[in-house]
Parts: sequence; C-alpha cells; structure tokens
Amino acid sequence: MAEFEGKEVNIAGNMIYEPILEEGVFRFDCSGSDRSAAFPSLSFTDTKLRDTPVMIHKVPVYLPTFKCVNEQQIVSIKLPIGTSFYGTGEVSGQLERTGKRIFTWNTDAWGYGSGTTSLYQSHPWVLAVLPSGEALGVLADTTHRCEIDLRKESTIQILAPASYPVITFGPFASPTAALISLSHAIGTVLMPPKWSLGYHQCRWSYDSAVRVLQVAKTFRKKGIPCDVVWMDIDYMDGFRCFTFDKERFSNPQVLVNDLHLNGFKAIWMLDPGIKQEEGYFVYDSGSKNDVWVLKEDGKPYVGEVWPGACVFPDFTQRKTRSWWAELVKEFMSNGVDGIWNDMNEPAVFKTVTKTMPSSNIHRGDAELGGCQNHLHYHNVYGMLMARSTYEGMRLGKENKRPFVLTRAGFIGSQRYAATWTGDNLSNWEHLHMSLSMVLQLGLSGQALSGPDIGGFAGNATPKLFGRWMGMGAMFPFCRGHSEAGTVDHEPWSFGEECEEVCRLALLRRYRLIPHIYTLFYMAHTKGTPVAAPTFFTDPKDPRLRKVENSFLLGPVLIHASTVPVGGSDQLQQVFPRGIWLRFDFDDAHPDLPTLYLQGGSMIPVGPPIQHVGEANPTDDLSLIMALNEEGNSCSQELCNILSLIVQLFYHLLVVGTVHQL
Ligand code: GLC
Repeated sequence: MAEFEGKEVNIAGNMIYEPILEEGVFRFDCSGSDRSAAFPSLSFTDTKLRDTPVMIHKVPVYLPTFKCVNEQQIVSIKLPIGTSFYGTGEVSGQLERTGKRIFTWNTDAWGYGSGTTSLYQSHPWVLAVLPSGEALGVLADTTHRCEIDLRKESTIQILAPASYPVITFGPFASPTAALISLSHAIGTVLMPPKWSLGYHQCRWSYDSAVRVLQVAKTFRKKGIPCDVVWMDIDYMDGFRCFTFDKERFSNPQVLVNDLHLNGFKAIWMLDPGIKQEEGYFVYDSGSKNDVWVLKEDGKPYVGEVWPGACVFPDFTQRKTRSWWAELVKEFMSNGVDGIWNDMNEPAVFKTVTKTMPSSNIHRGDAELGGCQNHLHYHNVYGMLMARSTYEGMRLGKENKRPFVLTRAGFIGSQRYAATWTGDNLSNWEHLHMSLSMVLQLGLSGQALSGPDIGGFAGNATPKLFGRWMGMGAMFPFCRGHSEAGTVDHEPWSFGEECEEVCRLALLRRYRLIPHIYTLFYMAHTKGTPVAAPTFFTDPKDPRLRKVENSFLLGPVLIHASTVPVGGSDQLQQVFPRGIWLRFDFDDAHPDLPTLYLQGGSMIPVGPPIQHVGEANPTDDLSLIMALNEEGNSCSQELCNILSLIVQLFYHLLVVGTVHQL
C-alpha cells in the first residue's frame, strides 16, 4: 500500500483495456474483476455495446491511470499541453473548461451562478480538443456522484466510488467525429416534431384557459410567430398531476381545440411528486401497484413538493414505467401535444440536500442495476421519468413524434427528451452564460436545449429582453419563460421597440426553420451537432477555442452581443479563417445577432410564417449560397444539379458583403 496525498492507496497503476463499439473506442477498467463486476450502463443505448469487446487490432493512444483511495476510484488522463476541454454537460461559467471542477449530482439549482458546481443534469463526459485539432472523448460510465476535475492544465481527473469503467473515444480527426462516435454509444437526439422548433411561450403560470387564449391570440394579432403555449403547475387541481383545475381549466379539450384552430400546440407539466392523498386516483392506483420509492424500512418515502406531502414513482422498475406510461396515454386524450417533466432531480422541499435521502430504496430492474439505494439511481431518476413519459406519449399517439421536456437528465437522455437550462436569472451574466450552456449540452450529446429566454427569476429590462430574444431565436430550443411574481415577459411586454426586436428575431427563426430542421435530421440520423462552438470550423486554430459570443448552426456563423453597451454592430468579432459572407433578411438591428454564411455552402430558408403549421409543401423555398474562392457553394457536381433546380424552381439569393481573413 502506498501513500497518496496522505491517504491510503490500495491499488494503483495502468488500467486494463479492450476495444469496444468501433475503431478508436476503448473500455478501461482497473482490473478483470472490476470489469466483470461493473454495473450495467445507463448511458449506452444497450449495455452489451459497452460490455462486448470487438475484434480490432489497434491500441489506445492515451492511457488512463488509476488509484483507488478510500473506495474512490481516481482516474487520470494526461494530454498534450495546449489541449482544451469542453463537455461535462449542463454547466455554467466559461465555455472552455480548463480550471474548472464539477460534481455530477442532479440538483434543483434555482438562481445558480457561474461557479455553481452541480446543476440539474449529469454528464460524466469530457471532450478534449488536442492542439492538433483532433478530439478525444472520455466517459466515466457511472451513475454515481462523480467529480470531474479539470483544474490542472491538460489533465483530466475523475473521482467516483469504485469501480466504474472509463470509455475513451478517439482521438478522432475532429470534434465532430468524436461526437458522432459518442452517439454510436449513447444514441442520437430524438427527431423533434417540426412544430417544436418554433417559438414556445411559457410562464409560471398562465393560470386560466381564458388567459392562455388571450396570450395566444395576441401573438397572432401582433404578427409575432409562435407555435406553442405552455401550462405550468397551476393548471392542475391543487398540484395533483393528471388533473385539471375545475374552474380555471374546466374543459382542457375545448381550450386545446381553440389553440389548435389558431395554430398553437399545448404543452402541460407533469412532476414526479404525487400528492399523498387517499381518494386521488393517481395515488390510489400507484399504491395498489406498489410503485413508490421506498425508505430503508420498506415503507413508501414521503417528501414535500408543491402539493405538500408526496410519494415518488420508482421509475427504475418496469412496472412503474408502464403504470406511468398508461397514465400519460390517458392524459393525452385531453389534447396534450407535449409534456414537461419538472422537479425530477427529484427535488424535495425542506431538506438540506434538496432531494430524497441517499438511503431510500429503488427496486430497479436487473438490467438497470437491480435493487439499489438512492445514491445509485439519483442521477438517472429524471432520465427514467422522461423515458417513461416519452413511452406514454408514443402509446397515446403512435403516429406522432413525442415531445418531452425534462429538467433533470443524464448522458443519454437526449434519446427521450429536450431540455432547458433551469431556473436562470434575468441578468446580463446569465444571457452570456446561456450560450455556452447550450453549446456545452450539445457537446455532451444533448442537441435540443435552450435557456428561459429573458431569464426566469427577476424582471428583464427591454434591452436585455430584446437581446436575449435575438440570440435565443437562434438556439435549438426556443422558449420564453418567467417565474411567478415577475412582471409580464411576453414579447410585447417591454414596449414597442423591444416588441419589434422580438418580432424580427422570431421571423428570422421561422425563415431558418428549414435549415434548423435539416440540422436536426442530421443530428438524429448521424450524431452531428446542431449548435456548435465557433472553433468547430477550424479546431486547429487556437484563436477560436475560447470564443463565447458566436456559434455555428451548420455553416451559419452567428455573432451576438451579450453586453448592455454595444449591440452586435459594435462587437469585437473573431472570425474563423476563410470566407464568411454576411447576410440578413432586411432585418439588421443592433440588438439582433449578425449572421454569416461560410463560403462554399448553402442553406434553405422558408417564408416568414407565423407558425410551423402554416408552411406548405408548395411554398417557395429560397437557397442562400455563399461562393468559395472558386466561385462554388458546394461540390461541383452537386452545385450544378442544385443550381439547375434553383434556376427552375427557387429564388436564388447569393449573399453579398464579404468578410474574408
Ligand atoms: C421550477 C421550474 C420552473 C417552473 C416552476 C413551477 O422552478 O424550474 O420552470 O416554472 O418550477 O412549476
């Protein structure tokens, strides 16, 4: 036994490895017995992919080492100086993660700041971009609380209770290639219904059907595009899930019909805390089916959330997931278009830990890891709830793509749900951080995310709100939301100038939906990112590694100002090398980001519609092209075919202002 920082080191050394999945992917364990004792993988789509070696005669380039100290397995990987770190899931603060440390522990983190070390989701995953531009992904395949320490330059250190496998992906030629390989393990993002790429309007809460319709109709009256209105907890009868307030939401079907007639979808919240009350059908049927999370003594655990005393479905059990899915299926018959799973860390009020006791018991299915205490399943509770909700929506409407939004998640939850960045604050720092957070989630497998536009807690100012809408309208998931007790935060709530900025921002988004939808199709089928950091254009260029006020939607580069003084026209911009052609939709405004198209590429844009359902297959579609040095916008052959099609059928816009480095 050796000494390590004053603690006993039981064993230490090189890890054993075997190739898995595909070329370039290796699984490392501390020993053969650790390998066979590992818990099933909940991040992989199929644990067999992680557990079955493949016949590839290659050796890993980077070899992790390990130490076991006081039952903690500490894994280190040293990478070349000049390596930049990304990933680690939903994290606040800077985009480039060197100097940071986080703990994967799903936490209800209202009002988090740039230094908060545990948010709502857990992604024990680091994407390392080497000085050469190659990228290596590292996954600690554990559901347990895991420390990811990137404080030492070019070194990844991971600490979690022993023992867990570490999977390395690459190094591959580019970060995109590493993300594609990751998606072969954890799956790709669900294919979102097209309407869910429109603008979503939410508030805690539009607390009556009358108010919901008023808000929806104001969008149409004012010509501001919107596809969805959200129902937060107050639609329920006393916060009882699967019920409706008898007076304020007396006939949800009538409300939804009205919304549908106006081109809106309706999304409704479902929390995991089920009111402990005999006579309430969800509590009664759950108790009859024995689906609740238990205390150590075998009795259902009771904790307080919105409705008061609550019990919690144990989503680690198949029978619970089917029970929940049936409730969801039934719930869908009210005209539910999408479901919002909130508070599923799970959050519990009036506790120091903000969650349930670690000693609680989950009677998990054998293939998920069997019966375990809460420590084991805490980080996947939200993902399993989202999965069950997704499955229920599938049962309810087989021919429709489900739309679920989840607050808590784990690496892999993009298979079932979109996410948002939780309870942020209405200030400039949060506006700035929201971009890095969306990008970081994308670099961790979750392509469908966005912040509460305008900020959840506190009151936005007109300037902040307009800027946030301008940038948020370019995010993969685009929803405005605000906390109870704040002033109104609809696009028209901050005066005429701000209203106009919001209108322009959202019309721009709707024009870009054909492009964004295509990016999602690529993400869903191939595992490529939707929103990516600017350095993805040239991972070798060190100038781009820390750029935080621009990002990419495919070949579109978006520069946004996140400071109160100076709009996007006054921004100090860092451009990737090559040709970047500025374009707009005759909507240039200092509060909107500036848009550039990479030379040699083209994107489709649609008409400025008010909601996705308004689009028609016979609508004009325009292609925006940016020519490269040779005067092409894509490969010669494809270009010829496309320009023929364009000449015959479409408007052709070749963008103008050249910005070349
Ligand atoms: C949580 C959610 C927030 C929601 C509120 C009420 O704080 O994060 O989005 O509005 O609960 O349901």
